[in-house]
Formats: sequence, structure tokens, C-alpha cells
Amino acid sequence: MQMPTPIILDCDPGIDDFIAIMMILAAPERFSLLGITVSGGNVPINFTAQNALKACELAERRDVKVYAGCPAPLLRPLVLEEGVHGVEGLKYVNLPTPKMLLQSTHAVDFLIDTLLNYPQKVTLATTGPLTNVALAIVREPRILDNIEEIVTMGGSMCLGNITPAAEYNFYADPEAAHILFTSGKKITAVSIDVTHQALTTSEWMEKLAKMGNPAASAVSAMVQGVHEYDTQNFETAGGALHDPCVIAYFLDPSLFKGTDVHVEIDTSHGVTRGRSTIDRWGKRGLTPNAHVFNEFNASGFFDLLTDLLFRYKRL
Ligand code: BDR
Ligand code: CA
Repeated sequence: MQMPTPIILDCDPGIDDFIAIMMILAAPERFSLLGITVSGGNVPINFTAQNALKACELAERRDVKVYAGCPAPLLRPLVLEEGVHGVEGLKYVNLPTPKMLLQSTHAVDFLIDTLLNYPQKVTLATTGPLTNVALAIVREPRILDNIEEIVTMGGSMCLGNITPAAEYNFYADPEAAHILFTSGKKITAVSIDVTHQALTTSEWMEKLAKMGNPAASAVSAMVQGVHEYDTQNFETAGGALHDPCVIAYFLDPSLFKGTDVHVEIDTSHGVTRGRSTIDRWGKRGLTPNAHVFNEFNASGFFDLLTDLLFRYKRL
């Protein structure tokens, strides 16, 4: 039998980060969640931290440890995504104020301490700006030796979503993303070329609402925000569930197909800020530093996500 994967999630909840947490917590036989670290991102850090706690409480997992980290990117002011996620990060949902408390340790200290000392290699999933992770790498590069795999949601081979050139997570903290991609560790990247295929439908949202469990109902309500924003702004048929794709990859890698490529992050301050130049055809002759997915089984993804949400207790 497969042992649960020791994992840390670094995130900025946010609607889709919230769903990623719910996916991990729905599958304790597959994940041993060592901690959730949050940064400022989609919304300010006081809200991302509260939203992570809210997800743990909704999943009835008050044992999970949540660590607050960097409120803003390394060198730049924070750019929020309130249009998508709402001012507090969970548009259309009003969950109770969490009773759980944050850990007193800073997220970066937790990352360093855990990754240096955990007796097994640890998997690192990131679904927000990469500030906490980059700072941990710069302060203690030896942590890279104890990481099994880093899977990051970010980047784009084609169009951006926050600007014409860039995807939000890399745009928000391009220096941090640059540190990750030049760390010497091969990065697995779930770009928006894939996540823009993970599109909500009204039928799916109704199905969740009818499941009769509070977790699925909350997810059904909050994805309405993403659904509306994306259909209005990107002319897509639904809302893209970016961050849940990272968790789906761990649970069923066969849903994804990708390729080894060299990725370079644009750290300029111009129109291409945060752009990920993904050398799909190896034109630059550089050694690949990433595995980027470009094919995706969307219906398999939705089956998986639906099954996970179905596991939560009915009222
Ligand atoms: C990313 O940006 C955020 O708004 C989402 O949470 C996701 O991590 C997609 O570009
Ligand atoms: Ca996110």
C-alpha cells in the first residue's frame, strides 16, 4: 500500500487555493499535510491566513497547522486579484470566523526547519506568489536536497491572465519565481495553458450544490465568482480552476502530459514583467529546468474533484 505523501502547501487563498486545500484534506490516505504556509497574494495576508483556517475548519481538520509568511513580494508592492476572488478572497461565501489559531512560527522558518529536518523527502506544492519559498531557498539552499518535487501553479506558454504577457503568480513576485527556476532544482509547472482547460460549468456547480454536504455547497457557491469573472474577461466557457490542478496531478498524474523545457522569468518592470518564456522547441539550446504540462484530461479532473468533495460529511 502507498504511504501518504508528506506535503507542504504554500498558497494565497483565494477561491481556487481554498479548493486545493479541501482536496488535500479529503484524501488523508494520500497526503500527510505537514503544514499550510500562506503569503499575501490574491488578497492581503490577513485574509489569506483566515481563509486557510476556514478551509481546515470546514474540513473538520483543526489539527492542521497554518503558518503566515510574507505579506508582500520580495521587491515590489503587492498586486491583488480582488476582481476574481472578492475583497476577502472567498467571494459569495460567508464562512464562520475560524476558532483555530495561526501558528506563531513564521512560514519561512517553518519551511526551512521542516525541509531540513523531516526524516523523509517532502513534496512542495505552491499555488500563490513564490515569496515564502524563494526566501526559504535563499536563506537555506540545503532545503532543496530534502524536497521530493516542487509543483508550482504558474506561468504561461501563450497568453497571460493578469497582463497580456504574464500569469498572476509569476507576475506578482517575478524575482521569487526567478529564484525558483534558477535554483538548480527541476520544477514541475502547471501553467494556465493547462488550467484554462479546467473550466467550471453550471451543471457541475448545480451538482455540487445538490450533494448536500457543506463543503461541496461552499465550493459550489465560491466557484460562481471565478465562473463569472473568467467568462466575462477571457471569453472562456467557464471559470478556470487553476490551483486544484496541482493537487489533481499528485493524485492522478495520468491526467497530465508535459514536456521538459527551459523556463526563464522576466524580472523587468515593463510590459512583459513576470512573463515565463517557455522554450517549447528547445530553440535556445539550454538545459531544461522545468517540466511543463501542456495536455490535460479535463473530464477526468472534474470526476476526481467531484469524488473528493463527495467524501465530505453530509448534513
Ligand atoms: C493564479 O492566480 C490566482 O488568482 C489563482 O489563485 C491562481 O493561483 C492563476 O493565475
Ligand atoms: Ca492561488
